[in-house]
Amino acid sequence: MKKINIGLLGMGNIGTGTYVLLEKNKDIIQEATGCQVEITKILDRDTTRDRGIYVDPKKFVSDIDDIVLDEDVQVVIELLGGVSPAKDFIYAALHSGKHVVTANKAAVAADMPRLVSEAKANNVKFMFEASVGGGIPVLSAINGPLQANHFEEVLGIVNGTTNYILTKMTDEGLEYADVLKKAQELGFAEADPTGDVEGLDAANKLSILIYLMFGKYVAPSDIPTTGITKVTKEDIKAAKEKGAVIKLLAKADKDTYSVGPELVSLDHPLSSVNNEFNAIYLTGDAVGQVMLYGKGAGPMPTASAVLGDVIQILKGEK
Ligand code: HSE
Repeated sequence: MKKINIGLLGMGNIGTGTYVLLEKNKDIIQEATGCQVEITKILDRDTTRDRGIYVDPKKFVSDIDDIVLDEDVQVVIELLGGVSPAKDFIYAALHSGKHVVTANKAAVAADMPRLVSEAKANNVKFMFEASVGGGIPVLSAINGPLQANHFEEVLGIVNGTTNYILTKMTDEGLEYADVLKKAQELGFAEADPTGDVEGLDAANKLSILIYLMFGKYVAPSDIPTTGITKVTKEDIKAAKEKGAVIKLLAKADKDTYSVGPELVSLDHPLSSVNNEFNAIYLTGDAVGQVMLYGKGAGPMPTASAVLGDVIQILKGEK
């Protein structure tokens, strides 16, 4: 059986989840790809942290070249998060002829057109399903079954942390700051949650959706963005009185785009998307309205999308 070696960049929550899922569902992966897939190298400075699983310490490396220059590594999974140095590492891997899978919306959104063309130029795959909507296969749907449509609009709840906070504020009458800590403990929030609560994470994801749906690149910094830090218990109560809830919506059509807290009427399907769940509500000229719903954050849903991409790549290699 063909052996596929993976280099994993980053072994935090998501990296550990990916490692665990690869071990747990090895049978499925082997059957689908006809390959024996193993994470053979891990770039992470923290070699001693208790991750709740045994990882051979010899797998850890501290220099990216140990992975991108290793001819025995065919696929790189980038889960470092943040633009730098992750983006440079992705370029280095693509240049070295490695397929790259990432969940890193910040790095993808920062340079999407170039990253995509760099992969093409090197005749390798660059896949990032997990970067938008965690475990929800929204990018595959846009690029696959929905690709015969002209897209008209997208409305997305694409940040699990803020949706969790707004849900708890709504259901339990809690204040913003009290809920944020819990979201961090549950592993939804970024290491620095500013990007979540200020809407920047949602803007990264919207930038990716705009590129794939409307064929144009809008840098996240060009998307008008407001976070949820100023949403109060009183705002939530006022929304209730109007028969609505407040959601952080990422929305775009072919000309306009924004991220911010908005009233969503209780009769709209997005109003019932709660906690860390995400949903992307798309309108296409042929299909009409489609809503994709699922867990948008957390180690296992994200690992599901990451390894789905890996399997997709290896199936193409057969
Ligand atoms: N911090 C992100 C969220 C993780 O809360 O949705 C998934 O991208």
